[in-house]
Amino acid sequence: MIVAIDGPAGAGKSTVARALAERLGFRYLDTGAMYRALTWLALERGIPLEEADRLAALATDAPVTFEGSRVRIGGSDVTAAIREPRIDRAVPVVARHGAVRTVMRGRQRELADEGSAVIEGRDIGTVVAPEAGVKVYLVADAAERARRRMHDRPGLGADALATDLRLRDASDAAQMRPAADAELIDTTELGIAEVVDRIEQLVRARQPA
Ligand code: DC
Repeated sequence: MIVAIDGPAGAGKSTVARALAERLGFRYLDTGAMYRALTWLALERGIPLEEADRLAALATDAPVTFEGSRVRIGGSDVTAAIREPRIDRAVPVVARHGAVRTVMRGRQRELADEGSAVIEGRDIGTVVAPEAGVKVYLVADAAERARRRMHDRPGLGADALATDLRLRDASDAAQMRPAADAELIDTTELGIAEVVDRIEQLVRARQPA
């Protein structure tokens, strides 16, 4: 079974998806990490982020691979580097290109076809895996999302973080829309375990006894 977890930055997707995958014994696929890794490689190679066709070719030639919790692209381990603020800012520009999304979505579908998985992103329930057995769309209020980001990016000030989140929401807007059959969960007041419990219940309800 595929569990699709979509939603904006800071809504809790990664933490929840990782914990849920572990609990269910499913694979975990972080599609945001794929766009981040491609962005890292494009910057490394000096490819202008506006050049959609070159970026799509790069995505084809240098597929992102996951080894446990490690993320690799083009021969480099980029696990830590893709979480830097410079990547936060650049990745929406790369993720916006239709040609890039086509390559990424193809690869994501291949990974989804390998068996049960929890997949997190923006367009999983709508485009990548519309057949997912469970679809969840996580949201949280802006202040809480900024607070969580502060925890992840201790080097940035509160104002810079709030601005970054606003800009990212605006850039990601085209991809960010809950599937019609997604369960909306507001995580503002919920702990991680509560959110995971809720989604686990949805999964169990869909699985044959
Ligand atoms: O979830 P994240 O912050 O790691 O995502 C990084 C960027 O990639 C973000 O700008 C949204 C984009 N993204 C996307 O467009 N589609 C996805 N399935 C996953 C992420």
